[in-house]
Amino acid sequence: MFDLKAFEAVNWNRSQHELTKVFWDQQWKQIWFPEEIAVSKDIKQWQDFAHQDTYKKVLGGLTLLDTIQTNIGMNEIARFEPNLQEKALYTVFASFEAIHAKSYSYIFTTLCTNSEIDAIFDWVKRNEYLQYKAKRISDVYLSIKEGDEVTLWKAMFASVMLESFLFYSGFFFPLYLGGQGTLRNSAEVISLILRDESIHGVAIGFFAQQRFKQFTAEQKEQLTVWAYEFLLDLYHNEVSYTNDLYAETGLSPDVKSYVRYNANKALMNIGFEVMFPDEEVNPIVMNGIRNEGSTYDFFSQKGSTYAVAKVTPITDDTFRF
Ligand SMILES: [Fe+2]
Ligand SMILES: [Fe+2]
Repeated sequence: MFDLKAFEAVNWNRSQHELTKVFWDQQWKQIWFPEEIAVSKDIKQWQDFAHQDTYKKVLGGLTLLDTIQTNIGMNEIARFEPNLQEKALYTVFASFEAIHAKSYSYIFTTLCTNSEIDAIFDWVKRNEYLQYKAKRISDVYLSIKEGDEVTLWKAMFASVMLESFLFYSGFFFPLYLGGQGTLRNSAEVISLILRDESIHGVAIGFFAQQRFKQFTAEQKEQLTVWAYEFLLDLYHNEVSYTNDLYAETGLSPDVKSYVRYNANKALMNIGFEVMFPDEEVNPIVMNGIRNEGSTYDFFSQKGSTYAVAKVTPITDDTFRF
């Protein structure tokens, strides 16, 4: 028996959605490699830094999320996305996720001993909240059915939740410290990751919105209920994770405000109503957000040569219609 469905070639000459190219170009213009950031300049401060344990766990947790986003998230969404241009775009995003996942190891290698690093990767496997988050998101990614728009949309929703919301309990600490001149080079690596996540959240959110429009009123209603329940469950887990992770720093309340702020941003990316009331977010970290993606020199301390990364400013609002 032959499958009569012909293999189709990706045709970039035919404009399917103008924004696919915009997202593609922006992502490539932002290419960066962690080795080009002078993380070794942080070594001196690191040696006297009081919260090494929290910092290492933060980076360990982020490594797990970026590993999943590379190996499962973007790959599964790209695999089932029927539009060949979008499929290619998600494959490119996956490459950047691989850079992100690798960049934390670069910071570890620069600042920590081998046995410390082993201990962190072991902690990642043992932390129940981190594993719960990884499992809930991965389960949605791994439930996409061939030709099924609903499960594909759910995976895109999960992806936006991961990239625009769940990463931020971790991003908080390096941004908070970097904004005060502590471990600034490591913070710069994080700011470059955040700049990519900003595109991913907006892009995947945008295409998910196009998909959502095609659903029936009943489907929309069911998916909306599912989405808020999913988000709420992830939020409760995130609160526990934050309390656990930041216990010794006294920063938990600030991190949780930041997490709620970003949960609202994730909902906006996907075209849903925000869920949490407006509240004050720590100004040091907010300063980081305002600079997000605007220029390369986020903390004014540059890596070596980065001409290619000096890109046109992009913010979440750039692609909001
Ligand atoms: Fe990432
Ligand atoms: Fe991403």
